[in-house]
Amino acid sequence: MNTEKIIIFDTTLRDGEQSPGINLDAGEKVEIALMLEGLKVDVIEAGFAVSSPGEFDAIKAVADVVKDSTICSLSRAVERDIDLTAEAVSGAASSRIHIVLATSPIHMKYKLQMTPENVLEHAVRAVAHARRYSEDIEFSCEDASRSEPEFLARFVEQVIKAGATTVSLPDTVGYATPYEYGKLFTYLRDVVPNADKAVFSAHCHNDLGMAVSNSLEATRQGARQIECTINGIGERAGNASLEEIVMALHTREDFFRCQTSVETRRLTAASRLVSEITGFVVQPNKAIVGRNAFSHQSGIHQDGMLKNPLTYQIMTAAEVGADEYRLVLGKNSGRNGFRMCMRSLGVEFGSDADLDRAFSRFKDIADQKASLCDEDLLATVVGMEALSRESHIA
Ligand code: KIV
Ligand code: ZN
Repeated sequence: MNTEKIIIFDTTLRDGEQSPGINLDAGEKVEIALMLEGLKVDVIEAGFAVSSPGEFDAIKAVADVVKDSTICSLSRAVERDIDLTAEAVSGAASSRIHIVLATSPIHMKYKLQMTPENVLEHAVRAVAHARRYSEDIEFSCEDASRSEPEFLARFVEQVIKAGATTVSLPDTVGYATPYEYGKLFTYLRDVVPNADKAVFSAHCHNDLGMAVSNSLEATRQGARQIECTINGIGERAGNASLEEIVMALHTREDFFRCQTSVETRRLTAASRLVSEITGFVVQPNKAIVGRNAFSHQSGIHQDGMLKNPLTYQIMTAAEVGADEYRLVLGKNSGRNGFRMCMRSLGVEFGSDADLDRAFSRFKDIADQKASLCDEDLLATVVGMEALSRESHIA
């Protein structure tokens, strides 16, 4: 099977840090960056160099220690910003300058207060300036998904001609649907004459919960880089989540025909580290890294899992570095799951009658409580005879 390599561009330390309530110091950025390097992400966007002296120093610190991933910093399309950005990443073994300028009518008119021609001129000048420092230049057409396609095509052609090696088409406000977002890539790759000279990149926000789907659809339409964050943290509703993208491409390689270099077994640890450092708790039902992602509670599911885990799991917990799947007991659980959980606590039932009696007690407790602890389970067999010698019931 022919597969395409997808470059994973992690922006946890830049767009992720733009989440209201997150502020990472240099030490924390370095710790996360080293984890990202171990995860084998291709590009780490370490920050926005011009935003503060502390941010500049933090990017420099990351650039100095990371050896295996390209280190990138965001910059406005302004020459003095680019100079500072280039300096911040200059210590890296491999560095990239990432320039952003908006291309949608609403951003150009109200935010930039510039004409489209003026914006285009600015962009070309900025890219040419950045090329003095690096051959690896990314240009982001901010709000690309709400830009006029014909203007965007002309714009992309010019920034590639000026030396941009990666062109990103952000869905900055999380507005696009997968069909529309994918079509934007098909269109630009078709009509831009020098499209083959740059890597096209997807950058999606999650305002309508479509960031991951949009990013994945982009790969089907020719995007070869995806920008994402650990746990999907980022502005407003966040960015596309790295772990979901990586595992979707990995698990459905038959469909997407794409691969990443990410060490999937480190995803759970990566998620926990980012959660711990940022204080952003991961919701229990979060795909891939949520506490319940590999837990099964209902009787029908537990029974299936005990017979063959493939009945209710499309990937193993081990693949993402999580503990083995868990059977969690609740009021929907069945006898088989109950017996297995009791066995893991050292309780073997001597007879079916004992099991029935304990199971009935268990249902009474489960009706009252959303989650049961080991003590609740052990209470179901208190006073019973004929438990196995492993039993530690008083
Ligand atoms: O969402 C966005 O458009 C961005 C740019 C700054 C790249 O994050
Ligand atoms: Zn963004």
